[in-house]
Amino acid sequence: MTFQKRILCIGAGYVGGPTMAMIAHKCPDCRVTVVDINPERIAAWNSDDLPIYEPGLDKLIAATRGRNLFFSTDIEAGIRDNEIIFVSVNTPTKTFGLGAGMAADLQYWEKTARQILEFSESSKIVIEKSTLPVKTALAMERILNCRENGIRFDVLSNPEFLAEGTAISDLESPDRILIGSRETPSGLKARETLVEIYAEWVPREKIIASNIWSSELSKLVANAFLAQRISSINAISALCEKAEADVTEVARAVGMDTRIGPRFLNASIGFGGSCFAKDILNLVYLCRHYGLDEVADYWESVVHINRYQQERFIRNMLGAMFNTLAGKKICLWGFAFKANTGDTRESPAIFIARRLLEERAEVVVSDPKALKNARADLAGTEGSIAFIGDPVRAAKGCHAVAILTEWDLYRNLDFGKIFKTMAQPAFLFDGRNVLDHRRCFDIGFNVYPIGKPPLTHF
Ligand code: NAD
Ligand code: UGA
Repeated sequence: MTFQKRILCIGAGYVGGPTMAMIAHKCPDCRVTVVDINPERIAAWNSDDLPIYEPGLDKLIAATRGRNLFFSTDIEAGIRDNEIIFVSVNTPTKTFGLGAGMAADLQYWEKTARQILEFSESSKIVIEKSTLPVKTALAMERILNCRENGIRFDVLSNPEFLAEGTAISDLESPDRILIGSRETPSGLKARETLVEIYAEWVPREKIIASNIWSSELSKLVANAFLAQRISSINAISALCEKAEADVTEVARAVGMDTRIGPRFLNASIGFGGSCFAKDILNLVYLCRHYGLDEVADYWESVVHINRYQQERFIRNMLGAMFNTLAGKKICLWGFAFKANTGDTRESPAIFIARRLLEERAEVVVSDPKALKNARADLAGTEGSIAFIGDPVRAAKGCHAVAILTEWDLYRNLDFGKIFKTMAQPAFLFDGRNVLDHRRCFDIGFNVYPIGKPPLTHF
């Protein structure tokens, strides 16, 4: 079969894999190849045991893999043989040198640019899918167009807005597709080529265009705004606990204002995930670079509140359990940074587990999808740690259960039975406000929600 467009994606991660699977599914006329430097990841994409858990992903892969979707480690051939190249490599926070702990580490991104330059034998459209600091496209253009050999590269910015756990439905019905391009004739032509791909399933009015820098910045700002809402409601949750107000009631009342809206107002142990903190810190770094210290301080406070909320959770546990956790068995329900994913990157659970171990508690970790990652995250951490998949078995003999991920399965367990198997007095710390607190209290638990008065038998 001859394909109308040949598409490559460099980086077979949480974004590259699902995004390309959706393009392959919706555009049967396109041949889509995903490459990665990590051979184990590619082998997993080519197996029945996919490298990431995402509801609906296995079906999508089964429908497309081997038909018009291919996973490979041959980056050189991939670059040579394809005319449209998405770059979806990781852009973590820098851990060394200038900007350590704040700026984006662009080494993977730049390596990719140089590989594209080295292996290209014809002109290409190169699309930033990774989240990047503003003006990265300029660096990309400078690297790619440094040779005078008649090969032209048009760089577009097309940030990804999917959320893990809902990636497939987000990709299928996105709120918008943003494409940033140069306003030159070839820039506009490249943009139209990408629009045509998305227009196969996304309504045209949802495909929006902008200049490249606005597009790059919009991605950082979208994540900063989302994270800011969580820090805002989490800050209010601390006040609710003091003032005997209920944060869920406050969020409902506030969110019914159509100018504010109800989503992303769930108080929690804080946001996790590989992107929110990284992208805000990146934004803060950019602002400081441009001398905008007040703007930088404003956004940095979103991250401060997030750290404060996690530490507050530990302090509440300590206070409730008579100021000592040493030798007590604490069961953590959920380790993933949110429900419906096995991803634990920057999960608040990592911080909470480590802090509990510092207090010399014995920690039992339970999660339906994230135990493998949890084991890797806690490897080498000193103290007593056990990993048990079944939440009921995990809670047995524990002094407390702390809910760290809002998995649905925790809502409907037999709490009467669980209570009887636990050490008394038994404590429940609901870091996600997912349980029926009154019912658990009536069973005998001492219940500590987030942002609501505790229900205790003392
Ligand atoms: P990831 O770590 O899961 O995947 C990145 C992949 O790139 C890895 O498999 C890595 O081996 C590969 N890679 C690195 N350098 C390479 C190279 N030179 N050649 C080939 N492969 C290379 O990361 P991710 O979560 O998919 O995120 C990718 C980008 O997308 C980041 O910039 C992130 O901020 C952004 N993003 C992520 C999400 C999300 O939900 N995870 C959502 C939107 C945007
Ligand atoms: C987030 C954004 O929602 C995506 O649009 C973006 O593409 C992505 O980051 C990215 O750039 O990586 P993601 O991190 O996968 O997606 O998941 P979210 O649903 O945003 O949740 C992030 C964190 O916030 C989780 O720890 C979640 O539990 C927490 N959260 C979310 C709350 O504590 N309260 C809420 O009301 C919502």
